[in-house]
Amino acid sequence: MRTQDPKTIYLKDYQEPAFWVEHIDLTVRIFETHTDVESHLTLKKNPNIASRDLVLNGVDQDIIELALDGQPLTQSDYRRDEESLTLTCDRDDARFSSLTRIRPQDNTSLEGLYQSGSMYCTQCEAEGFRKITFYPDRPDVMATFTTRIEADQTRFPVLLANGNPVDSGELDEGRHFATWNDPFPKPSYLFAMVAGNLSRKDDTFTTRSGREVALRIFVEPQNAHKVDFALESLKKAMRWDEDTYGREYDLDLFMIVASDYFNMGAMENKGLNIFNSAAVLATPDTSNDLRFERIEAIVAHEYFHNWSGNRVTCRDWFQLSLKEGFTVFRDSEFTADMHDRAVKRIHDVVDLRAAQFPEDNGPMAHPVRPDSYIEINNFYTATVYEKGAEVVRMIHTLVGPELFRKGSDLYFERFDGQAVTTDDFVACMEEVSGRDLTQFKRWYTQAGTPRVTVTDHFDSDTGEYRLTFRQSCPPTPGQREKDSFVIPIKMGLLDADGNDLPIRTDADYNPDTQVLTLTDTETRVVFSGVNEKPIPSLLRDFSAPVRLQFDYSDEQLAFLAKNDANGFNRWDAVQQLYLRAILGMSEDERMGKNAQVPSALLDTVASIAGDTELTPAIRTAMLSLPGYAILKDAVDEIYMENLVAARKAVINAIATRYRDIWRSLTEGLAGRGDYEFTAAEAGRRSLQGLALWYWLKSGDQAAFDFAADLYHHAGNQTDRGNALRAVLAGEDHALQDELLEHFYERWQDDTQMVEQWLSMQSSAPNIGAADIENLMEHQAFDIKNPNKVRSVIAGFAMNVESFHDETGQGYELVADMIGRLNGINPQIAARLVTIFSDWKRFEPKRRAMMESTLKTILATPNLSPDVFEMTERALK
Ligand code: PHE
Ligand code: ZN
Repeated sequence: MRTQDPKTIYLKDYQEPAFWVEHIDLTVRIFETHTDVESHLTLKKNPNIASRDLVLNGVDQDIIELALDGQPLTQSDYRRDEESLTLTCDRDDARFSSLTRIRPQDNTSLEGLYQSGSMYCTQCEAEGFRKITFYPDRPDVMATFTTRIEADQTRFPVLLANGNPVDSGELDEGRHFATWNDPFPKPSYLFAMVAGNLSRKDDTFTTRSGREVALRIFVEPQNAHKVDFALESLKKAMRWDEDTYGREYDLDLFMIVASDYFNMGAMENKGLNIFNSAAVLATPDTSNDLRFERIEAIVAHEYFHNWSGNRVTCRDWFQLSLKEGFTVFRDSEFTADMHDRAVKRIHDVVDLRAAQFPEDNGPMAHPVRPDSYIEINNFYTATVYEKGAEVVRMIHTLVGPELFRKGSDLYFERFDGQAVTTDDFVACMEEVSGRDLTQFKRWYTQAGTPRVTVTDHFDSDTGEYRLTFRQSCPPTPGQREKDSFVIPIKMGLLDADGNDLPIRTDADYNPDTQVLTLTDTETRVVFSGVNEKPIPSLLRDFSAPVRLQFDYSDEQLAFLAKNDANGFNRWDAVQQLYLRAILGMSEDERMGKNAQVPSALLDTVASIAGDTELTPAIRTAMLSLPGYAILKDAVDEIYMENLVAARKAVINAIATRYRDIWRSLTEGLAGRGDYEFTAAEAGRRSLQGLALWYWLKSGDQAAFDFAADLYHHAGNQTDRGNALRAVLAGEDHALQDELLEHFYERWQDDTQMVEQWLSMQSSAPNIGAADIENLMEHQAFDIKNPNKVRSVIAGFAMNVESFHDETGQGYELVADMIGRLNGINPQIAARLVTIFSDWKRFEPKRRAMMESTLKTILATPNLSPDVFEMTERALK
């Protein structure tokens, strides 16, 4: 496996292929011990390219027969390396045929065709199709597919592939076949097939032009009761895409399959989406509200790809954000429309700050459109997805909703059936808006999170208020100097009563959207007709993915938290208050000073907790402290013990000082009636969960009793999980053991519940490396299952106290896991390396330990290119 010198691929080297594929005829014959794949490609010379080299990718396949135009090929007819096969083809129209043998049941990488539980399924993005058959496995080659599957009828009664079913029947020896045809040309990464013993639930959707689409969800029989929510979500998504983007579904059939073994969330294969079971299966009794929201969003995301990704796809993998950034933007607007817009924005920004900002602030930083990679699987990142979505959102903000819709209409129309670039997308937006987005496109090419520092000056004589914005962007790997960005700043000015002042300025400010657009390193904006010094409310709704810094006093932040007309900024003001307090206390701790929780913070907490004009969901968000990912990202040098001590001190102060508030909130927010997944009900449950957590942190015995009672009588997993999580965060170890044991006894046959059982434990405070080892010995664990690995390892890595334990045991444990996974599932192993990527920002002791851990990983024998690339980048 070890590629001694893994090859780096560069965007600047992009070239069209010498041959296109018009059609592929594929037959997959599944047997007990192996699977045979027969393929016939209808090739067409690309007149733009002089070369006559036919390059076909192929990995881990045994060749049985190859032929060109019916003539068998011998080894001297082609050149072969680890990844591909090249031959010369003199004709412009040719037919390439292959018969190869693969072993899906031994495929633990979960790419290509593999076994998942009792079924066989595929995952081809990004480069999995080359593990199934020889093919130009690159997204700019778009072909129509006919797929015939043959398998044992008893073991695999259900046979699925992309498109429409065209034929099926029985074969000898208890076997049968099904043939599917997909009329829409697509790249190979969108190919999918499934064979299994699956139960099915049907529904229909009538498109706005009156076509009836059959909807089908396939799951293993034990999960048959868990599909209703996904089906409802799918119909909502289909309707929303018609209403919001004018996009209608194109085939007569849309299928979803749930798979327990899956590297990511889900996959948008044409007409046959394959989902990680955790991202689609739900019942109130086994999924909490966050999971419901996530499932709804992922179902929508994959569905939206049918246009943003499938009908219009990516020319090459450097353009990944073309489909992902746009589709994440689309799904997050969908969720905002379905539920609560401000809450959704807050959740997205928390994720961005916790995952993407740190990524952009360390050795893994890369542009939204990267310019090189070794292993493309390593670029399915928060930057490509979430920052990519922010970039699309900024375009939306700059051109406005109507022109954005016009631009997307143009994009879908002009490029339908084509493989294109982010430049093509932006060009459509430029064309409809008449706006030059050349400078804006630096967001695609320059990595790093820009900093915007703002200062103000008020002149009471002239009635002028001045804001000065200075932007800069720190260096990132391979990019020392940055040019200035186009930064839309949505803003307002608050008067002493907290009302927005009318804004008069001749700067580049749009009064309809409240957006001020920065383009220079320094911008001075003068607001006239101002009688008193206002308080600026900046970056409302987080209108740009930047770090904005303005020197507010604690009192001003408290004032904004109470009065800002923008819900997002009210939340953000509180977050700044928390962040500042924790960082200040952490620094005091380190200097041996007595750390005090600021009173402005405590007062604000009380007023939010008691503010019934705010929805429970917003109150929950405003009462939640920034997590460690955000705290670490905000300091120059990470002293973990001090951060932990400071954050705990703030929590304890809030918990004990307001014990009665938490108690009465917990009791007052009890549910009535049946579980309903609505924004209001989910908000209520989340606030009750948080209040219970604080109440329990205050050490009140009544809180433990309440939690135990809630756990036992909960009618849904949200309440049950809230109770258990609160108990796990407390000190009553006997109660913890009792509930965990009860949970496993009750739910051990439910995979989704077992995953939650694992991750609640691995992320609970008080759990050490030894406990994690034990958890991995438990029968519930399975190293070949990415969800189980994530539940345990990713949970543990967020459990900062034990992960960063001064003995280094936490580091060793994760490194060991990476070493074991390297040979099993390199993609998952490589992802775990990112846990160490901020090592350089730690104080000397941990920095040294983490560095040597990374070096140990790099020295692993047979290191996969995936892990090699990530470890090498991390060490730079
Ligand atoms: N394209 C998928 C999505 O974002 C993600 C994915 C990538 C799934 C690679 C599997 C493998 O919707
Ligand atoms: Zn996607």
